[in-house]
Amino acid sequence: MPVLRLRTLLVLVVATALTVLLSACGSTIFPTPTPTAFSEVTPASGTPTAQLTGLAAQGQQLFVKYQCAICHSLTGQRIVGPPLNGLYGSTVPLTNGTSVKADDAYLKLAILEPDAQVVNGYQSGIMSSHIGQFETEIAQANNLDALVAFIQSQK
Ligand code: HEC
Repeated sequence: MPVLRLRTLLVLVVATALTVLLSACGSTIFPTPTPTAFSEVTPASGTPTAQLTGLAAQGQQLFVKYQCAICHSLTGQRIVGPPLNGLYGSTVPLTNGTSVKADDAYLKLAILEPDAQVVNGYQSGIMSSHIGQFETEIAQANNLDALVAFIQSQK
């Protein structure tokens, strides 16, 4: 039956056109996001990525996932925020004139509520506005513990 064949052909043509159109859209409108490379969060002189295990290794993955490295180096370099290597156990001067020991409790607060205690020489509001989008996830106890363990591993 010629009519049916024509219809089949039409469906085929339309389907092909749609596929081409959709794949074109895919490459322009929805570009594949480039994940932050692990090398960017590997300290120049710290524990090499491959040697991190357990919680610290989990924390490193979260550090990448939550884009902490945009603002924090692990090499001592100041970016937007203070470098995080060598932080654990050190004494941190705050903008209110006091200082605090960087223990687990301080680090958790610094990550969860960045504006509660602001590091001297840095601005409040920057970190909180950026990580707000991940807040619920970061606030999960295991994620916080992992991030703290990772920071602790960065001597
Ligand atoms: C948009 C920039 C930005 C991002 C992203 C960011 N931070 Fe921060 N962070 C800052 C700034 C600025 C400060 C200093 C001001 C303050 O104390 O809040 C800071 C402070 C800190 C401190 C305290 C540092 C110290 O010397 O006592 C810790 C810990 C910290 N951030 C961890 C993180 C972690 C973990 C992430 C990812 C979940 C993250 N930050 C993401 C900007 C950022």
